[in-house]
Amino acid sequence: MELVRYLDADDVLNYNTPEDAILMSSASGEKYDYIINAAINIGWSLMRPTLTSHGRVVEITPNPGNYIQGGPTMTQSGGGWRLVSADRREIEAVLPREQHGVWRRQCGRPVQLRWWGVTWRDGVAVGRISSATPEHFLSDSYRINETMTTGEIQELLGIMAAGGGIPATMRAVQYTGYGGGAGALKHVEIPVPSVKKHEVLIKVEAASVNPIDWSIQKGMLRPFLPKFPFIPGVYPLKGGGLAEYVAAPESLTVVRPAGVSAVDAAGLPVAGLTALKALMSIGTKFDGTGGTGANVLITAASGGVGTYAVQLAKLGNHRVTATCGARNMDLVRSLGADEVLDYNTPQGAALTSSASDEKYDYIINTAMNVNWSAMKPTLSSRGRVVDITPNPGNYVAAMLTMFARKKITMMALMSLGKEEMRFLMELVGEGKLRTVVDSRCPFEKAAEAWEKSMGGHATGKVIVEM
Ligand SMILES: NC(=O)c1ccc[n+]([C@@H]2O[C@H](COP(=O)([O-])OP(=O)(O)OC[C@H]3O[C@@H](n4cnc5c(N)ncnc54)[C@H](OP(=O)(O)O)[C@@H]3O)[C@@H](O)[C@H]2O)c1
Repeated sequence: MELVRYLDADDVLNYNTPEDAILMSSASGEKYDYIINAAINIGWSLMRPTLTSHGRVVEITPNPGNYIQGGPTMTQSGGGWRLVSADRREIEAVLPREQHGVWRRQCGRPVQLRWWGVTWRDGVAVGRISSATPEHFLSDSYRINETMTTGEIQELLGIMAAGGGIPATMRAVQYTGYGGGAGALKHVEIPVPSVKKHEVLIKVEAASVNPIDWSIQKGMLRPFLPKFPFIPGVYPLKGGGLAEYVAAPESLTVVRPAGVSAVDAAGLPVAGLTALKALMSIGTKFDGTGGTGANVLITAASGGVGTYAVQLAKLGNHRVTATCGARNMDLVRSLGADEVLDYNTPQGAALTSSASDEKYDYIINTAMNVNWSAMKPTLSSRGRVVDITPNPGNYVAAMLTMFARKKITMMALMSLGKEEMRFLMELVGEGKLRTVVDSRCPFEKAAEAWEKSMGGHATGKVIVEM
């Protein structure tokens, strides 16, 4: 049902429940002008009560009963009766059945199609009820006055295939070896990934470039990732972020709510979830039960992770001091930070808050070049640093401070999933969390986005649009 909502359905019915099996729209109570029936086991008698007075069913299944009652088109309104089929073999499959009385139960008496003079015209079988047709049969409203030619049916099927169809190949960006930066990215046309059990195929509209992407290219996760050729994206997604399609585990997938743009959503999977995980790891509550919160420093608050972290920390009632460059101080204030330090000033480099003499209960360090030695003096007696960067010195400090009062813990690649993504999407949808967008590059210029992220001076998220 989530998938079908994602495809933009206004109302989705679960056909396995009694209330929905009758096909009535729960949202509006209105009847349907048209039904396109692609379910083999839904009979005309079930669809008919849900149609408006001139409603019509376009039947695309080989359901023999529905052929008897109108073939690929059925309508409520009066007039003549016609039987139309795109496929002569299907009609021929029906004829022997009516000869053996299969339709007796349904119509109350044997229905002999040949009595009605079914004829073939341009590959289409056409029949018409004569004036001698039994009254009770007509009273069942099996009266059809709409017909479609073979060409029209094929056109309709073509339109449906184009709307929901998936091409065999897709555009993607990939690299084939370690290093090389943006220059090593190649645009390729490759098969659309196949979907295994419990996976969904996602049509990518926008993706973000994250430091993890070019770090993997540099060999950070050698020898586990990548397997060449590699499409930059997030493990364990298959197909990657910089591709038109990606096959993803259903367990990691949420529907993007109406009102949340693809660009806004594209920032969340790495940076948003990382910020959320860091704040959850210090016990942040987002439901108002967190009291007055803690005194928290967030470094590199203008970055992809930092911009989300400041907003989430404020939603968790923390007092937030943030660091960033002078050009981004207003932005970071607008995200809710109580105090903003310019990291290029002595005070900013020392990480000391001027507003209060208090030390930090927690530091969420998202700046690669901020060391434990600079952070330790600013911590309260039991203060803790949650460091998300791959800073080797801080890794060593994390081991050395494992049993100390003041400590630093390194946060590994995020392991949050569906529920947390849904939570973030909802916050964005409700206007409580925003994605700060550094830049939007068209897919053809993905290398520019790569370069921008590698430069280390993005303000918010670097987005590639398909
Ligand atoms: N552990 C995980 O699960 C995980 C997940 C995501 C990211 N990460 C890591 O977290 C780090 C941040 O990621 P990101 O996506 O937020 O990076 P980003 O968007 O590239 O960060 C760039 C921003 O950081 C600012 N900055 C750089 N050094 C700074 C400093 N010393 N003080 C204050 N601001 C500074 C820059 O400001 P200026 O332009 O003014 O210099 C720029 O606005 C990266 O090292 C990344 O690898 C880890």
